Amino acid sequence: MAVNISRFVSVEDLRRAAKRRLPRPVFDYIDGGAEGEVTLRGNVRAFEEIAFRPRCAVETPPPHLQTTVLGTPIALPIILAPVGSSRMFWPRGEEVAASVAGAAGTIYSLSTLSGCRLEDVKKATPGPAWYQLYLCGGRDVAAATLQRARDAGFSALILTIDTAVAGMRERDLRNGVKELLTRRPGAMLPYIPQFLAKPGWLVPFLRDGGLMKFPNVVLADGPMLYADVGAMLEQSTVTWSDLRWIREIWKGPVVIKGVHTGDDARRAVDEGANAIVVSNHGGRQLDSVHPTIRVLPEIVAAVDGRIDVLLDGGVRRGGDVVKALCLGARAVLVGRAYAYGLAAAGAPGVRRALDILQADIARTMKLLGCTSLAELDRPYVSVPADWRAHP
Ligand code: GLV
Repeated sequence: MAVNISRFVSVEDLRRAAKRRLPRPVFDYIDGGAEGEVTLRGNVRAFEEIAFRPRCAVETPPPHLQTTVLGTPIALPIILAPVGSSRMFWPRGEEVAASVAGAAGTIYSLSTLSGCRLEDVKKATPGPAWYQLYLCGGRDVAAATLQRARDAGFSALILTIDTAVAGMRERDLRNGVKELLTRRPGAMLPYIPQFLAKPGWLVPFLRDGGLMKFPNVVLADGPMLYADVGAMLEQSTVTWSDLRWIREIWKGPVVIKGVHTGDDARRAVDEGANAIVVSNHGGRQLDSVHPTIRVLPEIVAAVDGRIDVLLDGGVRRGGDVVKALCLGARAVLVGRAYAYGLAAAGAPGVRRALDILQADIARTMKLLGCTSLAELDRPYVSVPADWRAHP
């Protein structure tokens, strides 16, 4: 059935459509967070606590949304964040999302936990792409992937530093993800009806090959299996010292993702990072950390203009992007916002998510009395008084 894409007027509409189409375990993988989901909710709420301070009755020609990140020009200050398992949301999901990002003039970031080959994803986009690295399988496995990513033309490497162990996603446990991955029919059976109830998802999923493996993590016996992700992450904690050997293989820019404090931001700069992402992994790792937008000012002050500061977490509206830029981010990464669109409607859904955010940004800037991203600055926002106290 053809979906009338224009009826989705917000990211929340795309979220609801994704919920209708996906089986519960898949939807909850996108939508859920760690433990009590305090940080997941906090990321969104913290944006709501920031108020705008517009300047009215000024000329506002159509605002320019172009910027550069790591010297790469992009058409809007939004990058697609690495999102694992996108191939579960829509057939060949990583390739689909990458092609839309490229057509929109922005960067697609490919997760290590991708269901599509990195070479195919790079080919799918006419634009730039970044590769996100977990050290699953150890150093040699990662080194081989890095070489492939370089050869394929990925232009920057994202190193995620907040995943020493997979977060405790309670929704996954309740939905039987552990049992489903045992491949033992007796254990799986109680959880199968969730999938049969969603034929609009199930038929394309089976046609696309069913449960994905991870073709960019090639172990001695072949691509890493879905069931092995947790154990592999735990055996492969990234530390600052890894940056040195990674740099020997990866000559291009390195983006450190998962920075929560000014201290870690300074450390990243000292260790030679070319950019950082202020990120709590969308509230999917350590719960009860501060929302990213709340710690952004501390981190921007610590970095002091030496490298680009990016942010993810809680971005659901273009106004959120504008708030992040006013507080010093160069651009934002969006994960769920586009993943809901992908899961709801494939390429048109991703396109819709980006169109909504882009139109929001342009409108918000006009209403603020701003014509370029460079003008977005502290005086345009008011943050709660207690944010200014020491974190
Ligand atoms: C993977 O990084 C995830 O958050 O599920």
